[in-house]
Amino acid sequence: MKKASHSPIQLLGISGSIRRESYNSTVLQTIAKLLSEELELQIFPLNDIPLYNADLDGDSPPDAVRALKSSIEHSDGLIICSPEYNYGMPGVLKNALDWASRPNFQSPLKGKPALIMTASPGTAGGVRAQYQIREVLSAALARPIARQHVAIAQVNQKIVDGKLTDETTINFVLKAIEDLIGEVRLVGKRLPK
Ligand SMILES: Cc1cc2nc3c(=O)[nH]c(=O)nc-3n(C[C@H](O)[C@H](O)[C@H](O)COP(=O)(O)O)c2cc1C
Repeated sequence: MKKASHSPIQLLGISGSIRRESYNSTVLQTIAKLLSEELELQIFPLNDIPLYNADLDGDSPPDAVRALKSSIEHSDGLIICSPEYNYGMPGVLKNALDWASRPNFQSPLKGKPALIMTASPGTAGGVRAQYQIREVLSAALARPIARQHVAIAQVNQKIVDGKLTDETTINFVLKAIEDLIGEVRLVGKRLPK
């Protein structure tokens, strides 16, 4: 395979589910393997993030939180892929974004381009959670990208043997990632060579 002539754009994937066989995590894991050599997608599992407690926040947050914030800071852009719980975002994801959002207005999320995706076995693809995710990212001064939404409906039928296999969905997600990269370049950290 041809080597990229410069370091890849680093994307950080965050799944809103910590379930072992999570469909949302599977979507991220599949996509990570399909990206071009210019892109790298690492996934940060939220399993070890404790519940937010301002008493534990500050210069020495819990190790898992420090790792999350560092991963966000060193990434060029975020891909969030989350289920919808009761028409909203799962507490696991909200909790992680709350940690990541500190210090207020100067957090690693500030200015970070972010693609929001949802996936669900239901027919709406979890789309109702997207508004909340967008609002929270906006509150933290991140840059959730404006585009046609990515909501993967009936995701359970599109995953086979632990992999997303539905070509239409894969191509749609890859197109959305192209849009995210456009925003990454726009933000200016990664101008095309
Ligand atoms: C507490 C709870 C609430 C849920 N609410 C919704 C919902 O509002 N809409 C929906 O499409 N699915 C809902 N589901 C079903 C999830 O979409 C489904 O469990 C999905 O597989 C979770 O994502 P994961 O596979 O990445 O863990 C809910 C599941 C749970 C556990």
